[in-house]
Amino acid sequence: MHRRTFVLGGIGAVVAPRSGFAAYPFSLGVASGEPAPNTVVLWTRLAPAPLDEDGHGGMPPGDVTVDWQVSATATFAALVSSGTAVARHDSAHAVHVIAGGLAPDAEYYYRFRAQGHISPVGRTRTAPLPQAAGRDLTMLFASCANFEAGYFTAYRRMAEEMPGLILHLGDYLYEGAGKPGHVRQHLGPEILDLAAYRRRYGQYKTDPDLQAAHASAPWLAVPDDHDVEDDWAGPHRLDDFPPLTAAQWTARRAAAYRAYYEHLPLRPRSTPAGTAMRLYRRVPWGRLATFHMLDTRQFRDPQACGGRWKVCADADLPARSLPGAAQEAWLLDGLAQHRGTWDVLGQQVFFADQRNAFGSGNMDAWDGYRASRDRLQRGWVDRRVRNPLVLTGDIHTAWANDLKADYDDPRSPTVGTELVCTSITSRGDGSAATAVPTADVNPHLKFYSDRRGYVRTTITPAAVRADFRGVDAVSTPGAAVRTVASFAILDGRPGVQRL
Ligand SMILES: [Fe+2]
Repeated sequence: MHRRTFVLGGIGAVVAPRSGFAAYPFSLGVASGEPAPNTVVLWTRLAPAPLDEDGHGGMPPGDVTVDWQVSATATFAALVSSGTAVARHDSAHAVHVIAGGLAPDAEYYYRFRAQGHISPVGRTRTAPLPQAAGRDLTMLFASCANFEAGYFTAYRRMAEEMPGLILHLGDYLYEGAGKPGHVRQHLGPEILDLAAYRRRYGQYKTDPDLQAAHASAPWLAVPDDHDVEDDWAGPHRLDDFPPLTAAQWTARRAAAYRAYYEHLPLRPRSTPAGTAMRLYRRVPWGRLATFHMLDTRQFRDPQACGGRWKVCADADLPARSLPGAAQEAWLLDGLAQHRGTWDVLGQQVFFADQRNAFGSGNMDAWDGYRASRDRLQRGWVDRRVRNPLVLTGDIHTAWANDLKADYDDPRSPTVGTELVCTSITSRGDGSAATAVPTADVNPHLKFYSDRRGYVRTTITPAAVRADFRGVDAVSTPGAAVRTVASFAILDGRPGVQRL
């Protein structure tokens, strides 16, 4: 193939296969992530047959050279950065490139070439320099995209927002067996080994709406439970279903981590080693914001009282932690640095206290680790953190919450803010319901929605605006997106103000 053909290829150009060329290998699209002032991670995976049962996507044994390019324009008239990477068979031909030599706070386009083919074009951007004010940032966050529960229309609508940054807070895929009678069906039985996780990622990533969301902006992604197994807790399983020996469970976690790394645009420092994977990390965004991405699965103590919704005194035990002692200390150290106006915690499970009428709390969320939550809240108050903003996924409905110094006293100070995104599809079409469940016993919970969608935030020095975006249906494709409700969080004033 002539270099000229490559350079002149337009957006999404596909070079027609010629004899001797392999089938189109970019069936899973492209992605970028982890933006820094001068670098960003570029991702792709070669998989001409992404649904193959061996998890290798139709690639034969052997490593393959992949060229990559970054340009300031979608026409690639001039290159800012370029190079060659190796897609290794051992890594399912996934590629993680750290593209360097980029300008801070700037927008770029990127693409790959391999085996005579050119990938779709992705759009990405870099973060501002640490001391720079930077521009206002449109950041979207989302979670929980069960392929069987519906079409990924919300991902498409996210791409159309042309955001500066996307946070994905877990349940990027679901591990369950294919079940008939759903909108779409998972391939194969419950995923347990590396080949099955890789194939499941292959199935998800063939979705054009998901590919569009990846191609629209850099992502900061963290996994939650279904990326491995429902409600797992570090080395513990909440349920013994399917029954697994200790060795099988260890192998499953390692396989899930490895496949997660292979399929998300993470930095190489997150490369897993067995069941250990460094996912918690800080991403500074100039003087505007600092993103503290948390891992609330790997280091947690088991759910208190072995349960989900429980009345459980053990939930208050001081020795219990959700992030684990090391991550708690790391987070408080980071919050004490006061790098940006907004300290954004990108994490997985419901943070605010939420009791039902019987006094039960969700033992899988921070309510099952109350002393740990209290240490963090007191910690950021003691460190005079001006604007702690917790972002949450997991529960497939949208919420806006005031975080209270004492949840048993509604008059106690509001010490932070929590925004909870709904799901992309999980729980299905949903409803127009907006009455806050348990509002009578949880007056700090200010908003609820049962629509599928995501949250659009507009982050400025003076305020964060949050628009809860919802689609009316996921059981049919193509639904429009609407703003269900909007809130403001003002600089120096924790809590949500309804707009
Ligand atoms: Fe979920």
